[in-house]
Amino acid sequence: MDWKSIANDYPYQERVIKAQQAQQKLAKKAGQGIFRQQYHFMAPGGWLNDPNGCIWYQGQYHLYYQHNPFDSVWGEMYWGHAVSKDLVHWQHLPIALVPSESYEDHPRGGVFSGSTISKDNALIAAYTATTFQGNQHLQTQCLARSTDGGLSFEKFAMNPVITSPPAGVSADIRDPRILRHGDRWYIVLGASLGAGAWSHGEGCALLYESADMLHWKYRGVIARSGGKLGTMWECVDLYPLNGQWVLSFSPMFLGDSKTVCLTGTMDFQNACFSWHTRSELDWGTEYYAPQSIADGCGRTIVMAWQNAWDWMPWWQDFGPVSSEGWCGCMALPRSISLDQNGRIISAPVEELKTLRSNEQKTGWITVDGQPRELPCADPVAFEMEIKIDLQHTQSKIVYIDLRSNGDKKSRLIIDLDNKQLTFDRHHADNGFVKGMRTCNLPIEGNMLDLRIFSDTISIEVFAAGGLCCMSNLIYPTHQDQQCQIYSEGGISQVNITIWQIARLL
Ligand code: FRU
Repeated sequence: MDWKSIANDYPYQERVIKAQQAQQKLAKKAGQGIFRQQYHFMAPGGWLNDPNGCIWYQGQYHLYYQHNPFDSVWGEMYWGHAVSKDLVHWQHLPIALVPSESYEDHPRGGVFSGSTISKDNALIAAYTATTFQGNQHLQTQCLARSTDGGLSFEKFAMNPVITSPPAGVSADIRDPRILRHGDRWYIVLGASLGAGAWSHGEGCALLYESADMLHWKYRGVIARSGGKLGTMWECVDLYPLNGQWVLSFSPMFLGDSKTVCLTGTMDFQNACFSWHTRSELDWGTEYYAPQSIADGCGRTIVMAWQNAWDWMPWWQDFGPVSSEGWCGCMALPRSISLDQNGRIISAPVEELKTLRSNEQKTGWITVDGQPRELPCADPVAFEMEIKIDLQHTQSKIVYIDLRSNGDKKSRLIIDLDNKQLTFDRHHADNGFVKGMRTCNLPIEGNMLDLRIFSDTISIEVFAAGGLCCMSNLIYPTHQDQQCQIYSEGGISQVNITIWQIARLL
């Protein structure tokens, strides 16, 4: 196989060094930031979006990520890199993949998202390269190889390996997920059929097949929106889970739906994915581009960007943290499985429990309309576990005010009557975030459970055994933040445990 060696390629090395220096410069500023997360993964400095190339490789979790090391806004993309043995403590490593070739020279593009797979003692990355096509993006699919354990990559000399969209597919075609099945390699690409992502195109996933990983044959559209699942599918993933197959993607223009998971069967021979169940990995405002990892313990882990594009006033402002020299973090790593109906169940990985301390328990208590203070040893970095005994609860709604002081609060509304969960952030901070998110809450027994993770700028909720998750950003700066619980329309029986979570950063 013909790889372009980077070892003596001065411009490549120079780019790596420049990017590294820029990241370190921003890291100094980011280190002072008041909005820094305490236990969610962040880049040392600069911009971060999608997780890329996530893999369990040589005994460690590797997390690459979309990264602009030169600024805390989106721009020319590189792949940042970190490794972890437990998904909780991460070690930052040098920037792994840099735009160095003419096919990836777009200043608002570079090296876009992709995935990795191990092959013959090497780690292969498949990614989207972007260059100009007139004043538009040309998106092609490329390969790079690492022979030093994932630290640095050399590009394939014959790149791009997938040069143009097949007939009927618009120019939006990206984020290759590379996988092995039987004796073949496959790439699944997210794309848009017809008019394109920004028009009335139809989101879809395309399949490519290869015997040697270098020559790729287009096999067809394996699944499509049919006018119901968005205009373009970004960051498509395809993986086996509990004996079935999951096709996940982040659709464009599908309202609150940002992380669709379709459960079904994958017929590689006929290039067809048939699905029976649709779930959403997360219903919050900030959860995007999830990527799966099959790890050494038989688990399927999902990493995702704790953000999404909708909320950003594009090209002008990337939110309140951007002036701190960083922007973007990852949501907590989740372990996922399917329930008997094929729905996705998400749980924060067990390893996160090692961060707990200062346990405080209320025991079973009766809650009514009078707000009741909840004891949080750390007002910012904490985990709260709530059980609601539905047999002994008459109330219609349970409210939990988080990170509150006076009028400022993020409110979780558990509507037992209508079986809905709402995160209301109208008054969460000084007016940067607004609005609320509501989703169905599958209450299916006599006990309802919720786990809430609070960090400097995020609240992540796992409810109903992990069938219903919500990840939202908030930017509170008010002092003396507290938590309260109360209910409406009668009493509720609840049992609450709260832990302080270690501040790692
Ligand atoms: C998703 C996405 C990808 C693209 C990358 C660019 O968030 O738009 O489709 O590869 O981000 O940074």
